[in-house]
Amino acid sequence: MAFNSGEFRKVLGSFATGVTIVTTRDKRGVPHGLTANSFSSVSLDPPLVLFCIDKRSNCLPAFQEGEGFAINVLTDIQKDISDRFAFSEERWDGVKTTSLVTGVPVLEDCLANLDCSMHAQFDAGDHIIVVGKVEDILVKEEGDPLLYFRGMYRGVHIE
Ligand SMILES: Cc1cc2nc3c(=O)[nH]c(=O)nc-3n(C[C@H](O)[C@H](O)[C@H](O)COP(=O)(O)O)c2cc1C
Repeated sequence: MAFNSGEFRKVLGSFATGVTIVTTRDKRGVPHGLTANSFSSVSLDPPLVLFCIDKRSNCLPAFQEGEGFAINVLTDIQKDISDRFAFSEERWDGVKTTSLVTGVPVLEDCLANLDCSMHAQFDAGDHIIVVGKVEDILVKEEGDPLLYFRGMYRGVHIE
């Protein structure tokens, strides 16, 4: 390869993304979730989306055995919960959730939520690509996105 892993990370970090928390519940009904910026739209018809999860993630078994997952798109005032679902063990204390069609926990007060049934999973290097079929959505007209760029949170204000 003509580059090292640090250079590769730098290149990936120069692509600005939104920030999501992806949530699910395991067979016993216990909620799991992690912060993820690998969310992407895939298909409009049928409506498909994806995210990528590290094979080392403690949440991976819950996503693999679960019937679905929710993508929760964060606003610029949700940095704290983003950090909590990236770095902390105590993730769910005080978090307000609801459920839509699939029954997985959907976070309240987000910019948007996509409630997905499991469509496919693909092995891809050190990650698994998880594809969901969107069963229900919530979207807010107000609010600005939380952005992630060069390893830092950012905000945007569009006039
Ligand atoms: C902004 C941001 C984006 C992230 N995106 C992803 C991602 O797309 N996929 C992933 O597996 N981890 C991602 N992570 C790291 C996970 O959030 C973190 O490793 C995870 O919470 C580990 O917890 P777990 O082992 O309990 O699942 C991201 C972290 C941050 C701060």
